[in-house]
Amino acid sequence: MLLSAVCDFSFLCYLSFWCEVLEEVNITQKYLQTVGLTLEKCIVKLQGLKAFLADQCSEIAEKAICYATTKCKEMDISMERRGRVKLRKTMPGMKAKDAGLTLPEEMKRAMFECLDRFHHELEIRSQAIEKILSMFAVIQPNSLVGATEKDIHNYTPKLTEIFDEFSNEDIFREIERLQRHLEAAKLSVEEAKKWTALQFLEFIVKWDYCESMPNLSLCLRFFLTLCVSIASCERSFSK
Ligand SMILES: *[C@@H]1O[C@H](CO)[C@@H](O)[C@H](O)[C@H]1NC(C)=O
Ligand SMILES: *[C@@H]1O[C@H](CO)[C@@H](O)[C@H](O)[C@H]1NC(C)=O
Repeated sequence: MLLSAVCDFSFLCYLSFWCEVLEEVNITQKYLQTVGLTLEKCIVKLQGLKAFLADQCSEIAEKAICYATTKCKEMDISMERRGRVKLRKTMPGMKAKDAGLTLPEEMKRAMFECLDRFHHELEIRSQAIEKILSMFAVIQPNSLVGATEKDIHNYTPKLTEIFDEFSNEDIFREIERLQRHLEAAKLSVEEAKKWTALQFLEFIVKWDYCESMPNLSLCLRFFLTLCVSIASCERSFSK
């Protein structure tokens, strides 16, 4: 009884569908929890997931329909639309008036809509992360150790516009100071470029430079706090 109650065509479809999609989501969310992951890498990974959803859309849907069709035949489940089934299989956002469509067609459309929504949600999140990244461009590793004076003067206003406790001039002076300290501590530029924001903050704290770099250390703290809240948001989102 239970089997026939849960096993209808649309259920089997979604079973295969979510299995495919969630496998990729699982990999992505595992990766996003990597310790010390930079925001750039988060964005790239999310882009990868978006590309997967966009490229594999038809394939995933076809596969799900194939799977459900085969299983229905095997288990002798009717693929005809049943009165009650229609109600149950309606997903949020799916229009109920798909009158002229066969059940597989209707399912395909529903799956496309699911993927579309998911893609859209990911897009919103990636954009939010990109915005933070651009706001904090000046304290990204490449900028802290490698940016030219001109770059720094370009990046800083994005930050100071939002956080008016920082001034462009102070940030610039502190970055120069940090670079001198890194050099004095015999750290190669190449090595420091691979650091995360956390490692820069740790360096500053370890060498007791907080006092001579108050703006920079506060700024790194702001950034790291934001990163943590994004990470926990992504985590709860992907569950
Ligand atoms: C998610 O991925 C991990 C390995 O990265 C694996 O052990 C786990 O079984 C996967 N979970 C699902 C539901 O696929
Ligand atoms: C930024 O640096 C200036 C000069 O060192 C200092 O007076 C100011 O308090 C710092 N601002 C913050 C928010 O730490």
